[in-house]
This record gives sequence, C-alpha cells and structure tokens, in this order.
Amino acid sequence: MTKIMVDKISKTLDGLYTLADISLTVGENEIVVVLGPSGCGKSTLLNIISGLITPDSGTIKIDGADYTGKTARVSYMQQKDLLLDSRSILDNVTIPLLLKGMTKNKAQAYARSHFTDFGLVGFEHYYPRQLSGGMRQRAALLRTYLFASDIMLLDEPFAALDAITRRKMHLWLLKLHKHYQSSILFVTHDIEEALLLADRVYILSSRPAVIRRELQLDQTAAFTPDMKMDLLAILEEESNDHF
Ligand SMILES: Nc1ncnc2c1ncn2[C@@H]1O[C@H](COP(=O)(O)OP(=O)(O)OP(=O)(O)O)[C@@H](O)[C@H]1O
Ligand SMILES: [Mg+2]
Repeated sequence: MTKIMVDKISKTLDGLYTLADISLTVGENEIVVVLGPSGCGKSTLLNIISGLITPDSGTIKIDGADYTGKTARVSYMQQKDLLLDSRSILDNVTIPLLLKGMTKNKAQAYARSHFTDFGLVGFEHYYPRQLSGGMRQRAALLRTYLFASDIMLLDEPFAALDAITRRKMHLWLLKLHKHYQSSILFVTHDIEEALLLADRVYILSSRPAVIRRELQLDQTAAFTPDMKMDLLAILEEESNDHF
C-alpha cells in the first residue's frame, strides 16, 4: 500500500525554479531515501510533503487522501530540529503528545515506555546539553516518532555526527525500524548512508531538482564498489556547478 504519493510537484522559491515535476512514492514499512547534491531542494521537498509549504503545482497524497498544503498528518524531523535547551529530555519528547491533548501523566508514561528502544533510559531528566550528539538525535527522533509513528520524514538527521557515531545510528535505526515498522522518507547527500538504509533510493539532480534515477536495493545483498562508484558518478555529475 502506498503511504506517501508525491505527484508532479513543482516549486519556484524567490524566482528560482527549485523542484521540477517530482513524483515519488513511499510504501508501507519502506525506507525510501532521497539522495541529492547540496542545495538541490531536498528540504523544500520535505517541507511540501509535510504541508508546511504549498507547491505551485502537483499533489501530495497520504494514505490515498489529498494532503497538499495540509500539516499535522506525518511527523517531520527538520534539518535543524533542535531540542529545547531549557527542558529535560522527557519534557522535550512529550511535547507532541501534550499538543495532541494527552494529560501530562499519560504523555510521560507513554514516552517513557519508548526510552529503552531509543537508548535514552536513565537520561529522562537530563538537559539536551548534557547528552552526546547521538543521544540528542535519538531524543529528537523519539519526539518525531511520538508525533506520528506511521509516517516519518527525516531530513539529514545524522549529518552532524562523527563517522563512527553515524554508523552506530544507522545500525540502530535499522534495528528500530524492524521492530516499529514505520514508513520513512529519509533525505541525505551521503551515498553510504543511502546504500545502507534504503529499500529504494531516488537520486535528485541539482536545482531545479528532477528525479534522475530510482534504484531498488536488495538489503540482503552486499554493495559492490561498482555500485558506489556509479552513484558517486551520478552525484558528481549533478554537483559540478556547485563547487
Ligand atoms: N524560503 C526560501 N526562499 C527562497 N529560497 C529558498 C528558500 N528555502 C530554500 N531556498 C533556496 O532553495 C534552494 C533549495 O533549498 P533546500 O534547502 O531545499 O535544499 P537542500 O537540498 O535541502 O540543501 P542542503 O543539502 O544544503 O540541505 C537553495 O538554493 C536555497 O537557498
Ligand atoms: Mg536541506
């Protein structure tokens, strides 16, 4: 079943043609990665899918219903999604539940029931500054998950982490996904990350972004160096103008 359907989306921002006729889908329990060069319009695409901005043309369907320009159906971890410094981790992650009208007690109990899986047990009353980068991102992911668990848009959630922590987060996310079964649209400019996480990858061109290639990945097979080189070649071709 198709959870997200992006149909012929185009968008011009401040007179700059940014997204050109983008169509893609995310199926149930699928991890779909959108891979594209810096500045090509990846965040703009997620802003449109989440309903924060309206496309000039095209439609967004979630579970078959029109959600173009409508927010609050899918959860969205934005590229600069910061935890609130003045609130504990528990208070940060319960925000979406409180916004939905849950009582504080219920929200805290429900959030706490996820702390083990998100690797945050024992840190409920810590403040964001007291946590490692990886833990902060897991807390931000938990907050995202608690907003809407079935469909999540993630915009380069691990980009700021060092390589080893990033790799750990990838393995953790894959394990979590097996257990939690969300449909995930994950944006990145990192080829390794795309190959490791995705069931399917869409490669975007530089701005105005069009879909250059769609790849179905077999996650049980090893990735050959050739495959990485092919992807690298496509991405390099696309980013040439931006060095
Ligand atoms: N609100 C806006 N108004 C005008 N231009 C914008 C706006 N938001 C983004 N842009 C421009 O549109 C282009 C695409 O931006 P966007 O943030 O979607 O790209 P991106 O692929 O997410 O980039 P990055 O890899 O750096 O995260 C960029 O050139 C950006 O400067
Ligand atoms: Mg971006």
